[in-house]
Amino acid sequence: MRASTDSPNGGAPALLKSRFPPATSDFPSLMSAPATDLAAAGAHANQSGRRQILVTSALPYANGQIHIGHLVEYIQTDIWVRALRMHGHEVYYVGADDTHGTPVMLRAEKEGLTPQQLIARVWQEHKRDFDSFGVSFDNYYSTDSEENRVLSESVYLALKEAGFIETRDIEQAYDPVKNMFLPDRFIKGECPKCGAKDQYGDSCEVCGSTYAPTDLKNPYSVVSGATPIRKTSTHYFFRLSDARCEDFLRGWVSGLAQPEATNKMREWLGESGESKLADWDISRDAPYFGFEIPSAPGKYFYVWLDAPVGYYASFKNLCEKRGLDFEAWVKAGSKTEQYHFIGKDILYFHTLFWPAMLQFSGHRTPTNVFAHGFLTVDGAKMSKSRGTFITAQSYVDTGLNPEWLRYYFAAKLNSTMEDLDLNLEDFQARVNSDLVGKYINIASRAAGFLIKRFDGRVQDSAMHHPLLEQLRAAIAQIAAHYEAREYSRALRQTMELADAVNGYVDTAKPWEQARDPANPVALHETCSVSLEAFRLLSLALKPVLPALAEGVEQFLAIEPLTWADAGKALSSQQPINAYRHLMTRVDPKQIEALLAANRDSLQATEAPAAAAAEATRKSKAAREAKKPAADETPEVISIDDFAKIDLRVALIVDCNIVEGSDKLLQLTLDVGEEKTRNVFSGIRSAYKPEDLKGKLTVMVANLAPRKMKFGMSEGMVLAASAADEKAEPGLYILEPHSGAKPGMRVR
Ligand code: 2FM
Ligand code: ZN
Repeated sequence: MRASTDSPNGGAPALLKSRFPPATSDFPSLMSAPATDLAAAGAHANQSGRRQILVTSALPYANGQIHIGHLVEYIQTDIWVRALRMHGHEVYYVGADDTHGTPVMLRAEKEGLTPQQLIARVWQEHKRDFDSFGVSFDNYYSTDSEENRVLSESVYLALKEAGFIETRDIEQAYDPVKNMFLPDRFIKGECPKCGAKDQYGDSCEVCGSTYAPTDLKNPYSVVSGATPIRKTSTHYFFRLSDARCEDFLRGWVSGLAQPEATNKMREWLGESGESKLADWDISRDAPYFGFEIPSAPGKYFYVWLDAPVGYYASFKNLCEKRGLDFEAWVKAGSKTEQYHFIGKDILYFHTLFWPAMLQFSGHRTPTNVFAHGFLTVDGAKMSKSRGTFITAQSYVDTGLNPEWLRYYFAAKLNSTMEDLDLNLEDFQARVNSDLVGKYINIASRAAGFLIKRFDGRVQDSAMHHPLLEQLRAAIAQIAAHYEAREYSRALRQTMELADAVNGYVDTAKPWEQARDPANPVALHETCSVSLEAFRLLSLALKPVLPALAEGVEQFLAIEPLTWADAGKALSSQQPINAYRHLMTRVDPKQIEALLAANRDSLQATEAPAAAAAEATRKSKAAREAKKPAADETPEVISIDDFAKIDLRVALIVDCNIVEGSDKLLQLTLDVGEEKTRNVFSGIRSAYKPEDLKGKLTVMVANLAPRKMKFGMSEGMVLAASAADEKAEPGLYILEPHSGAKPGMRVR
């Protein structure tokens, strides 16, 4: 059987009793934080309670821009890292660009660059974006580095030495014009089921069926257009099916923090003794941008082999710069902790391949892997046409404050893999009401009086007010919520405290107290309590809003806040500085501009060549300049464009008028799904509800749901209309011939 150190938490370390250094002032030391999975996980600390922690976020590919979907993860990781640093632990957060593989190679070629030139440019862009959002990497590096080559080779050679590598001949699609093997995503053809053209090698976007690339009819290479041939080549495999891997992984899985991850792992591993793990193909043939495999000319490490090793390469580079002992951190038996934040789509790589690679190459294994869900915007997948595929750069360029997004994501994040939604209306409302209305407001109300009337000095006796003791006691819980990745709870609790502080100010009414200059004590107390409360709330928010916290520290003339500062207080010895506004409100115009910016730039940059981009821009400009009248012929579209529309036969199960609208009818449609759809349609001028009930029609079934004043509309029914709808006759909904059934596809 495996040793207990096989488990992700490295066995069962003692739970740290308190992670707060003793208070230095006359305040009582704080209660210890409540135990969480992470408080227990791998928490090996030296005698001073200082843990050594290495943290990573997934490495973004070097062929695209950072968008808000990526930012969920970097912001989530950064908040965690900052919260742990605030305990005084030795925390290193490293990242890198994931540079290797076919897509980067082809992208560089298309741009007329070498892969090295492309990745150097993208690295600059990524670094700029991370800096803008306050992502505090200790090192941001590249997988195309010498450190990574050496480490990848040594991991591979150790695995080989231990009998985990074998070669096998496999047959694959090959582009005879470009002379290269084709990854599945570079082969397209006709769907074997529905015949739709230009479908990828794994699944059909039109009918949804899945299949193997060899099943495609009339396949072609996306790279050259040639018909792929089949060709055999020798590949290198990591023998994950080896009983040692299964045995190790079964033990390792038991310490994973997320039950969803454990369940997935158990599903992958199958019942004990029936290992379902397949060997992993770790080589690719030239031409390939990557590291050549030792003693295997023309064979390269598959990008997913050297990518996670890139975490260590980045850390090694940092160790060299800072004089740290890299080996002591990464070798088997290391007492340090190691955590990987990832998206749930790459769990497989991080909970099977990566721990097994580490275990059998003499390295320590990850303490834990934390996966998060996907981001939707306004309830739907991010979409380039709607402008919701928002790049980090466009967000910053539009003048939106990155800390607003950090706050909003944090308010929605917890320790599970649930997806999260960025609702742009809610974003404005929440930032404006929580951050500006509840939190910043406290400082702006108190600071003026304190400066004008009390020389900027607090009343020391006010620092023991029960409200402040309540806040101080809560800080330990909030810090623990951060460590448990329950950010939404941390922020909910913080905002409840802000409500209590505002309630206190509303009751004390400093604006009335100020009218009695002969009796300044009460006013002084109110302002002092408010300002100390503001300091404590700033402490609670600091992992999420680091730039704002810096502004607060400067304003209050205090040292950088750490969790230990919950046990301290402002002092009359140190006057505060003049208050300058710390955060503004979100302006709805900025959101509009953001969506517009992404609609524009992405349509232009997506087109493969400059000419195509130009054509897109031109047709868009033409469309906008002159909306075609109903009887004009719209622009020609490709079959691909048409295939994107999912038209379905729908049975109108129910139809009602909509109170308060003279244009709309509310339709309940059966489209052969489990649930009916609710659709609002502007056809009241032409139909009465009883005309339509029981009839068949045609609907667009994959239109993003739209929130309307009267409820959610989940599609659109099709109607023919004359140039002037208002003239009689005006509007006719479509009806299929008899025999059509609800749910049938129209094409
Ligand atoms: O899925 C991705 O975007 C990969 N580039 C993540 C790599 S994470 C790590 F293993 F390097
Ligand atoms: Zn199909």
